[in-house]
Amino acid sequence: MRVFLFFISVLFAVPGVMAEQSPIRISTDDIDLILSVSSTNGRLYQAYLGPRLLNDADVASIASQSSLLKAEVYPGSGAEDYYEPALAVAHNDGNLTSILTYVSSETRKIDDNVVETSIRLADKVYPLEVTLYYTSFARENVIKTRSEIRHREKKPVTLRRYASSMLYFESASYHLAEFSGDWAKEMRRSVQELQFGKKILETKLGSRSAMHVYPFFELGFGEAPGENRGQALLGTIAWTGNFQFTFEVDDAGKLRLISSINPYASEYELKPDETFSTPDFIFTLSNAGTGQASRNLHDWARAYQLKDGQGDRLTLLNNWEATGFRFDENILEGLMKEAAQLGVDMFLLDDGWFGNKYPRANDRAGLGDWDVTREKLPHGIPHLVKSAEAAGVKFGIWIEPEMLNPKSELNEQHPDWAIRLPNRETYYFRNQLVLDMSNPKVQDYVFGVVDKIMQENPTLAYFKWDCNSPITNIYSPYLKEKQTQLYINHVRGVYNVFQRVKAKYPELPMMLCSGGGARCDYEALKYFTEFWCSDNTDPVERIYIQWGYSQFLPVKSMAAHVTSWNKQASIKFRTDVAMMCKLGFDISLKELDEKELAYCQLAVASYKRLKSLIFDGDFYRLLSPYENNHAAVAHVSKDKSKALLFAYDIHPRYAEKLLPVKLQGLDASRMYKVEEINLVPGTHSHLRENGKTCSGDYLMKIGLNALSSSQTTSRVIEITALPESAISLK
Ligand code: GLA
Repeated sequence: MRVFLFFISVLFAVPGVMAEQSPIRISTDDIDLILSVSSTNGRLYQAYLGPRLLNDADVASIASQSSLLKAEVYPGSGAEDYYEPALAVAHNDGNLTSILTYVSSETRKIDDNVVETSIRLADKVYPLEVTLYYTSFARENVIKTRSEIRHREKKPVTLRRYASSMLYFESASYHLAEFSGDWAKEMRRSVQELQFGKKILETKLGSRSAMHVYPFFELGFGEAPGENRGQALLGTIAWTGNFQFTFEVDDAGKLRLISSINPYASEYELKPDETFSTPDFIFTLSNAGTGQASRNLHDWARAYQLKDGQGDRLTLLNNWEATGFRFDENILEGLMKEAAQLGVDMFLLDDGWFGNKYPRANDRAGLGDWDVTREKLPHGIPHLVKSAEAAGVKFGIWIEPEMLNPKSELNEQHPDWAIRLPNRETYYFRNQLVLDMSNPKVQDYVFGVVDKIMQENPTLAYFKWDCNSPITNIYSPYLKEKQTQLYINHVRGVYNVFQRVKAKYPELPMMLCSGGGARCDYEALKYFTEFWCSDNTDPVERIYIQWGYSQFLPVKSMAAHVTSWNKQASIKFRTDVAMMCKLGFDISLKELDEKELAYCQLAVASYKRLKSLIFDGDFYRLLSPYENNHAAVAHVSKDKSKALLFAYDIHPRYAEKLLPVKLQGLDASRMYKVEEINLVPGTHSHLRENGKTCSGDYLMKIGLNALSSSQTTSRVIEITALPESAISLK
């Protein structure tokens, strides 16, 4: 049984308010979230959030404390709480107050692992109702929360705030890890201590969740979130548009966390009987640092969220870095043969294959016209699919169907389909505009882009779906006077299309891309098997970027390609970094000499042999590039019979002390064979333990001398348990 040393308790603070009915307990194997209704005012409060309580009597006791701390689960506006509310509504009579009291709750067991709790709250003065949903995933220790808002006033009410959820914490100090960045510098992690007042993480990008900040965070209590120690809460919101996390430390030193769609420019007119559904806020809490919390999220995502989360992934060769827009049939057919030579599963044709009146010869024209450029590819896509298949690989294709270039036939035919201001100069981001996905006709058109390609090419194996521009010139010709609905309805329109594509093509693997990694949220990933982490494929940068994403997302969803970025780094280093995630190549083999090519072929073969371990094992971050001149990670199979260690030397100092890398997650009592793989042909391993047998205990306590003092070098080490090898440990 697990014993937790720490708990976050929130007790009611208004004297004399007692809970009368049984507490609402939302639990996983290791977490308890306990809510309680006050018998004095009938409102719902958070009594506890922390490690699971072992004694039922303690649950009752904590929920019935007579001192009340202000921790209302879904506070409206106008009551005695002077902090940020979860809900703000302008009623028909202009009144801005809403106070919600408990009505009823229901617990539904979905299966042995999943339980859904719904709690109905209502305002006694206005016919306004909110239902809170909590879905708990026991084994994965993940909780998903969201809310639904509806009313029966005569006319629409205006929603000004509409949180997915609100949580409270009490600790000596709060330490927030945020993930910021931009194009080519995604997911940079930094930690700060929260002080009194508010810290807000939010975006206003419209068509994507991320760019300057990513929809993920980590909280450490009493200390900065550590990889293998301390309490860590990891949270994310499943919304492919503007999001907002508000962290507010109040006068009593409690931390309040509100997760929401960003209400910026988004007052929502909610009609009577219409339901406003908020996105899911997803969180996990670990008592053993962020490493365990990440593995919780990885397990959950593979089992419940990611498209084909349990399935295989295709290795591929992409042409973007090798050719840009400059290609023809011959060049592509050459690359397809190279894909086969490399041993990957698929050839992926990127941007530049469409447009006739305005051919897509660069990023200034053609976007929106999804007919193949006849001059460039006279025999069309069906011919390319056949050529790929003849070469022995599958065929995938790039699209960016939610956008148009002003220089396109689509723009000439439907000038009112793009989001664009009627009365100001137009601002273009990458020479393009975002289509108005709040318009059902536009949704049909976007679905049609995929559907038409699939109808013509039923064996087409993969889509890379890009979204290179945030929403600019914010005005929807479709919504007219209801402009404040645009940000929300746009994202809902995007989901409508994603749902239709998935319903019709449930098996189709798809990569989510957004000018690098700006679309990486968990709602979009329901419809995508993977996402593009960054256009920055410099392996040094990628170690940091992949380290960042891996905090929240399973590596099988993280597309990582070997390219020519940072050619000073060897092809081995570039490949070893990409192999940590979902491997692909985006390079012409002509750039490689014989030995380098042989190395890549070997690496692809190893990857295919070991991919189920990489995709579905437990991921351990062993040595942080943020704290060392090196980095190391390992994948360990669920049954602990196999591990794969990646050790990277980034920029070691002269005569630096090199410590062994200690593995984690192995079986201490088993013997493992240690073997360095991915060796460049003609070279041999310098690893002292290479070819030897070590106990799991040795590997975890003493470790492997897997680091070196040479810049941008790497070692990949396969660790295999010997059958029947249990040893007795005292
Ligand atoms: C974006 C993507 C790239 C590539 C280009 C094509 O920048 O991130 O991988 O597909 O678009 O225009």
